[in-house]
Amino acid sequence: MSSPAPDPTLFDKVVNLTKRRGFVFPSSEIYGGFRSTYDYGPIGVLLLRNVKDAWWRSMVQLRHDVLGLDAAILSPPAVWEASGHLANFTDPLVDCKHCNERFRLDKLDDPHTCPNCGEHDSFTEARNFNLMFKTHAGPVEGSGHDVFLRPETAQGMFTNFSNVLQTSRKKPPFGIAQVGKSFRNEITPGNFVFRTREFEQMEMEFFVPPAEAGEWYEYWKNERFQWYLDLGMPAESLRLREHEADELSHYSSGTADVEFLFPWGWDELEGIANRGDYDLNAHATASGEKLDYFDPQTNERYTPHVIEPAAGATRTMMAFLMAAYDEEEVRGETRTVLHLHPRLAPYKVAVLPLSKKPELTGPAQELLATLQPHFMCDYDETQNIGKRYRRQDELGTPLCITFDFESVDDHAVTVRDRDTMEQDRVPLDQIVDHVRTKLGL
Ligand code: GAP
Repeated sequence: MSSPAPDPTLFDKVVNLTKRRGFVFPSSEIYGGFRSTYDYGPIGVLLLRNVKDAWWRSMVQLRHDVLGLDAAILSPPAVWEASGHLANFTDPLVDCKHCNERFRLDKLDDPHTCPNCGEHDSFTEARNFNLMFKTHAGPVEGSGHDVFLRPETAQGMFTNFSNVLQTSRKKPPFGIAQVGKSFRNEITPGNFVFRTREFEQMEMEFFVPPAEAGEWYEYWKNERFQWYLDLGMPAESLRLREHEADELSHYSSGTADVEFLFPWGWDELEGIANRGDYDLNAHATASGEKLDYFDPQTNERYTPHVIEPAAGATRTMMAFLMAAYDEEEVRGETRTVLHLHPRLAPYKVAVLPLSKKPELTGPAQELLATLQPHFMCDYDETQNIGKRYRRQDELGTPLCITFDFESVDDHAVTVRDRDTMEQDRVPLDQIVDHVRTKLGL
């Protein structure tokens, strides 16, 4: 893993690598691009999917008390009225009267000086700007059928609380988890995919008896922090920061952020919030539906409290890239390598025939077909073997398998480890087990 001190050059290096190697492309680039919107290319889509799958595995698959959900992105104003987003999901916006640039007042280092043109006291009065994207359903604009693109996935879990409770036989404490797109009309998107208007979230609402909320809040802070460590983030680049009272969102009675040391300093990856009974109560009042739980053992009816770990998938993917990026001196040359955890690595294995001769490419493709049902694989027969190793290092591929001229006779291949660059000779009939053991998945 790279150095924990913030390295201002790391940002450009990672952004360049992601473009060069097909991780992330500026969206609508052939039309000049669409500001702060990105498309995930052939490698990026694998990495992003692996981040989301690793989250789902730990939050849903490996637990008995969390269930999945995939709710709609479009929803009516009633949802956002009840959740408080229509009234409160705003940023204070100021315009510089001198250069006409627009800023978030709460993000300005000096609220009296324009960071763009340097003019003093040139800002307009702050206006509250709602971050939700509004559109309309149906063919007639202005017909009153306003709808909103969700600014968080969380509300789908609250509005489906009763559906899940009734169909699942769960009782508090239990959770509902969701991964999906969210949309915010950010005033100042930027820092690559760190803050964009369209992004992906990984959120879980954990419903608990009110008296247990404090203990579950502590539990989820620890669990979530450990998830990043288990996937290879260096401990020195991660911290858990409890919010000050004036930072808390409108629904929260306690929030802690998992923060990563980005090239510009510490910044948020995930928030773990104690939302109390705010959301279920708000939706129960607005909808007239009961959103509570009757405990047949105690004969008590109560509204569960909610602990919410809310992470950004796209932002977290970027942090994993930054943490994994390294440049090393190897025999007088610099190699760029992504030391990604094997679970996150886009390709687990690359199959590389030593030459383009059919006597090697034929069996190499057979080997590829043997590996593909088990692992996401790349296959490359272009350029010399050294360049192909370097390319796979830049993609973060943990293992490269070379099929050489000897392989034809000895039925064995060379397996090269990305991190140590050590090479093992492995019989072809043991290759699947060998790769599985090496990856440790
Ligand atoms: N339901 C609570 C909630 O949405 P949040 O702190 O606003 O909380 C959770 O968002 C996470 O979503 C953030 O920690 C961040 O990782 C990600 N996120 C939020 N806004 C984002 C944006 N504009 N671009 C990329 N990721 C974003």
